[in-house]
Amino acid sequence: MDSILVKGNGPLKGEIPIAGAKNACLTLMPATLLSEEPLTLTNAPRLSDIATMTQLLQSLGAEVAALQDGLVLALSSHAIDNHRADYDIVRKMRASILVLGPMLARDGHAVVSLPGGCAIGARPVDLHLKALEAMGADLDLRDGYVHAKAPGGRLKGAVFEFPLVSVGATENALLAATLAKGTTVLKNAAREPEIVDLARCLRRMGAQIEGEGSGTITIQGVDRLHGATHPVVTDRIELGTYMLVPAIAGGEVECLGGRLELVGAFAEKLDAAGVSVTETARGLKVSRKNGRVRAVDVTTEPFPGFPTDLQAQMMALLCTAEGTSVLEEKIFENRFMHAPELMRMGARIDVRGGTATVTGVEKLRGAPVMATDLRASVSLILAGLAAEGETVVSRVYHLDRGYERVEEKLSACGARIERIRGN
Ligand code: EPU
Repeated sequence: MDSILVKGNGPLKGEIPIAGAKNACLTLMPATLLSEEPLTLTNAPRLSDIATMTQLLQSLGAEVAALQDGLVLALSSHAIDNHRADYDIVRKMRASILVLGPMLARDGHAVVSLPGGCAIGARPVDLHLKALEAMGADLDLRDGYVHAKAPGGRLKGAVFEFPLVSVGATENALLAATLAKGTTVLKNAAREPEIVDLARCLRRMGAQIEGEGSGTITIQGVDRLHGATHPVVTDRIELGTYMLVPAIAGGEVECLGGRLELVGAFAEKLDAAGVSVTETARGLKVSRKNGRVRAVDVTTEPFPGFPTDLQAQMMALLCTAEGTSVLEEKIFENRFMHAPELMRMGARIDVRGGTATVTGVEKLRGAPVMATDLRASVSLILAGLAAEGETVVSRVYHLDRGYERVEEKLSACGARIERIRGN
């Protein structure tokens, strides 16, 4: 297994291009299952999770070609020749459940493995299933699989209110509703930019959708969707992560392609901590206002609130802030696994349930640490940039799921970072 070696090296300066969003691309790719015509996604990120979704779609009979060094994905699904998404692939990535809605909507039947839990929490899929049931699906859970059928071969439009906001369940329901008979109204829908991007892509394919980005999305089902070309929205989590580089290490970084509207709540917290964020014609320019950053309290919430996917990285910053910060994690029950690793680097953190209290220290010290999930791993790299001495982050396969070419992007700003190849 590879590791990453980081040596704290003082202020960093440069430009970092931000890739297309992993979590948008993972929901756009299954949209190919809705139409027999080709779907082309541009600005795709080059990540192992995208390779896993490619493998899953290919197992269902779709053709997926990565062109232009993986930046363009050409997908096509003339017919779905296998309606069973196997546990072997689904267990690798929870987003696999997003093939359920499209297969059911197009052909009236699908069998998809239940994804199971994951490191950051139990993460059930009950809301995905309830929304599809509201659209008339008959679901049977046996042998670890969801066996789904649409009576008469077609889902029906329905009014469904999510009892809690779920990004994935909103996406699955939205994908399915495009081909359902009649109108679907999704209430208490997720408002994340990735949902807006999915709705835009589906509209390009001929779907009739209104209200994306608000809590109520209305979909008028159509008989068929056609081909389209769609650019994947900028990755707001990669953006936020790299915005933290000058905040934690000093210096100035311009995140190319970044826009404030993608990271509003996060940028407000940075401002309160003493980090300046300016929108330029090319992206977002970030630097520390003066001296050490100040403590701020953070509570994770669905969009437009502070994203859970930036909580670990923000914690790394607050470990070196002046004062005490309180971080509350409201989305996932087990998302502080980076805290003990940061403590190995000299951080002072007290975790009680969903609350972490961080008392800033002047300096972190390099240490061998272990990545436990995707966002945790990058938070350790950020901490390493600000630490004295060497930090070696092991188990970086987590990182490769969601960050492309980290070493390249950070070295271009003057960071001393390298990958140590394992066996
Ligand atoms: N939930 C349920 N039942 C469901 C679905 C969700 O109880 O059927 C709960 C979850 O357990 C969680 C909460 O609802 O406590 C919110 O989960 P949500 O469904 O919104 O999350 P997700 O769709 O599984 C996506 C991202 C995550 C990101 C969350 C929250 C993708 C592929 N994943 O997950 O991204 O943290 O939304 O914004 O889009 C990451 O990229 O590191 C990552 C974990």
